[in-house]
Amino acid sequence: MKKVTVSAFAKRKAAGEKIVMCTAYDAPFAKAALDAGIDMMLVGDSVGTTHLGYSSTLPVTMEDMIRHTQAARRGAPEAFLVGDMPFMSYQTCIEDGIRNAGRLIKEAGADAVKLEGGAEYAELTRRLVKSGIPVMGHIGLMPQSFQVLGGYKVQGRGDDGVAGLIADAKALESAGAFAIVLECVPEMAAKAVTEALSVPTVGIGCGRYCSGQIQVLHDLLGLLDFQPKHAGRYAEVGAIAREALKQYCEDVKAGTFPAEQNIFHD
Ligand code: KIV
Repeated sequence: MKKVTVSAFAKRKAAGEKIVMCTAYDAPFAKAALDAGIDMMLVGDSVGTTHLGYSSTLPVTMEDMIRHTQAARRGAPEAFLVGDMPFMSYQTCIEDGIRNAGRLIKEAGADAVKLEGGAEYAELTRRLVKSGIPVMGHIGLMPQSFQVLGGYKVQGRGDDGVAGLIADAKALESAGAFAIVLECVPEMAAKAVTEALSVPTVGIGCGRYCSGQIQVLHDLLGLLDFQPKHAGRYAEVGAIAREALKQYCEDVKAGTFPAEQNIFHD
């Protein structure tokens, strides 16, 4: 399979072809997403809540991101893989941002990095792109800032909200970002941002008019009990897993597992 490059995503937008993204955090599911035809995968810092049992993304470290990005890469060598910059890996200074983004590319095998923040991160974005690192922006609801935003709330409401989003998106685009994630923004605001840019927007909780969609894998598969309003649920894998484990418990207790086909003989 031929690997996609960043310029292909702008061409997709220009051609009106939707971009499909989901998160991936390990080898088996990265392979499943690649086999399914997902265009681009994000090893999100949502790994903190999906895999590591944290209640937010704030505790996620560079080492966590590197470990999970490496795993996804091993599972899907041909995927276009974006590695998320975790909290405090780039907010401290531009040099930290460049060093840590470089680690995601060199040590973990990411094709690009994603970072949360608007115009205030345009300079870092410019420096990363100049250093050879493709950058995906992320504006709207930025989960790393939930404490400042007063929770996980819809962003960009009203004329001022939309103008702010457009200004941030344009600053990131001018700095060289190849695409921008928009999270939890009213549909018409997301449409306005998408129309104001040449680069694609990839929406989550932003309605129908973004250039593409991204969803968290665990929401798509029904792996967690909590279900955000914006999430598409395409399977009940969590329920299937619980049922299978219950059956295993019953079989061991009843002495019906292991069965003849599971047993070695001399
Ligand atoms: O970490 C993540 O999964 C994300 C997506 C929700 C866009 O940032």
